[in-house]
Amino acid sequence: MTSSSAPGKIILFGEHAVVYGQPALAVPVMQVHADVEIADSPRAGIWISAPNIHLHAELNSLPSGHPIASVIHNLFFVLNIDPFPNLQISISSSIPVASGLGSGAAVSVALIRALSSFLSYPLSDEQVNQFAYEIEKLHHGTPSGIDNTVITYAKPVYFVKGLPSPGRRWAGGEVQILKASKPLTIVIGDTGVHAPTKESVSDVRKLWEADKAKWEKVFDEVGEIAKNAREKIESDEWEKLGELMNQNHALLQNMTVSSPELDKLVTAARQAGALGAKMSGGGRGGNMIALVEPEMAEAVSSALKEAGAKNTIITTISP
Ligand code: MEV
Repeated sequence: MTSSSAPGKIILFGEHAVVYGQPALAVPVMQVHADVEIADSPRAGIWISAPNIHLHAELNSLPSGHPIASVIHNLFFVLNIDPFPNLQISISSSIPVASGLGSGAAVSVALIRALSSFLSYPLSDEQVNQFAYEIEKLHHGTPSGIDNTVITYAKPVYFVKGLPSPGRRWAGGEVQILKASKPLTIVIGDTGVHAPTKESVSDVRKLWEADKAKWEKVFDEVGEIAKNAREKIESDEWEKLGELMNQNHALLQNMTVSSPELDKLVTAARQAGALGAKMSGGGRGGNMIALVEPEMAEAVSSALKEAGAKNTIITTISP
């Protein structure tokens, strides 16, 4: 049997603008993960069991565009696996679906790793990331590649889509590992509202297509915030970092990707003493994040629950 696990993720700064070439910052969330186990099967076929999404099926009974089926078909094609072996694939995930925590990318990364190593074709992180990006493109339209990247490397990243070297180019983007010099405490609040990223990304594209000059100015502002935030993280200037989160949230509101539920949680976090707060990920629902001093984390988490959060996670980003 072979098993593999991949974490969830949050975007700290720069979502949406990153699709248009601006930098963004993202970190893994180890408290939630997708887990995949693979074993030989006594039954003919490739049997997939994913109780979280009520899936118990043989591969050939799934539509070819199914996200799990497309990972298996594409990977077997690339690795030249023919005929297909008889397998039992078990997938479980504690990452809520369509919530901005990268559930789809985490399942892809864990599945790619488990399958390739079970079949004795171990892939490098760079290959896993590249492959996961291809899968993201199949299902999410025009992703930047930040989700698969932060999840593959499971490290805080500063990511720029499609930037030519000096740094290494991974999955169509340049990624650098972010280094905070002190741990950063973040409280994540879930609105409980499911919101597919594909839709908000496509709506932002419509805004941009209707007035490119206007929206590129907004994306530039977000990019400046992300660059600035990186400096503040690396020099432990948490209060300024919190202000930058608030400014980024306001720009995401302008892009129409926040929602009343997200705004309510963001306000509650700030009122409860967070240094700053913003929505995170695709938006319209899903999760928001608040930067806190460690001793304020429980109070902010309680305030978020009182304001309607369905769940909260306190996570620490280590240096
Ligand atoms: C989703 O986690 C982040 C977005 O910027 C989309 C993307 O970068 O692919 C909204």
